[in-house]
Amino acid sequence: MREIKITDDTFWVGVNDRTTDLFEGLWPIDTTGISYNSYAIKDRKNVLIDLAKAFKTDDFFDQISNIVPFSDINYIILNHMEPDHTGVIKTLRMLSPQAEIICTPKAVRMLNEYYGITERIRTVNDGDTLDIGSRTISFHHVPFVHWPETMVTYDQKTNVLFSCDAFGGYGALQGALFDDEYSDMAFYEKESLRYYANIVAKFALPVLNAIKKLSPLEIKCIAPSHGLVWRKSPAQIVELYRRWAEYGTNGGEKGVTLLYGSMYGNTEIMMNAIAEGIASGGICPEIFDVSRNHPSYMLPALLVNKGVAAGAPTYEAALFPYMQNILEKAALKSIRNKKAVYFGSYGWSKGALKKTRELTEPLGWHYIGDLEFAGGPKPHDIKKGFELGRLIAEAASE
Ligand code: FEO
Repeated sequence: MREIKITDDTFWVGVNDRTTDLFEGLWPIDTTGISYNSYAIKDRKNVLIDLAKAFKTDDFFDQISNIVPFSDINYIILNHMEPDHTGVIKTLRMLSPQAEIICTPKAVRMLNEYYGITERIRTVNDGDTLDIGSRTISFHHVPFVHWPETMVTYDQKTNVLFSCDAFGGYGALQGALFDDEYSDMAFYEKESLRYYANIVAKFALPVLNAIKKLSPLEIKCIAPSHGLVWRKSPAQIVELYRRWAEYGTNGGEKGVTLLYGSMYGNTEIMMNAIAEGIASGGICPEIFDVSRNHPSYMLPALLVNKGVAAGAPTYEAALFPYMQNILEKAALKSIRNKKAVYFGSYGWSKGALKKTRELTEPLGWHYIGDLEFAGGPKPHDIKKGFELGRLIAEAASE
């Protein structure tokens, strides 16, 4: 593999993963892949920043040894302990027993619990610095972006911020590393949003706190541990993250996510009437059949759009299971402050509306209407559905 430089003496030594189907065992990356970006700085002291999952380890270690012999590595900085960035640490410790691990105090316990590592660990407090020769690097704690022990590392000479999960995204690298090497950024922006909604959204407030805390730093390049390195427009990914995090309090943008599940087509008939009502209100809804779409792809729409129309039948006196699944995922990821309507068919018992509200009202979802109907929808039900669609479009446009 060719040598990939971030600056004269800073190198990318990461791994592209196009084999894993589910990131964290949960989120589909089978068609997009993901990268585990790791970095090496050569100076009087040689430094590795973040590592990789225990995957393609020969490739990973070959890249490092081409840049710096293992016996010459002085520091291994672990910004974050999740195993997609630390999975190779036990092997690396055998290859570079002299290297000192640098991490936050909260990471120490995790190093022992995940890997049994208890020695040659240096903890750094928020704002601590380290002289490695021609430069000083500094450490900035950003708790809960993504775990409580997380920090970022900043190179004061080159103004590169090594941000680990923060400002990252899904999507294996497509032959180039930097944002300025891609003419069409739509793929990475979309996959960064999906990554944010799946992985980071629960921690919106910590994200905003981190952005505020890091704002005094002069950042010329953002080098996250997933996805592109942003050297042309580092502010672009920061602003995207800020906007997405603010959706947690402002409810999102004009738009409606229309979720539906249907057993025999009756709720689907109503869904079409509601979609027509939404469209007549000036919004083209994002429509998802909850039985056929993975929550990973529905969460970004739920995060971004201010309005939600949730349509599902009652199933065994409770909520249609796939609708319950996506609403529980929305709760897990703190998708908050939406305008909402419910609609759905029931047979021998109601129950879906009650459960839908139970799951989402604690998130600050405000229901402006609902429509339950027995069996198939009648013409007067369809008319009400159209009006319900208009109502949610109006509320989602405010
Ligand atoms: Fe990419 Fe939270 O690990």
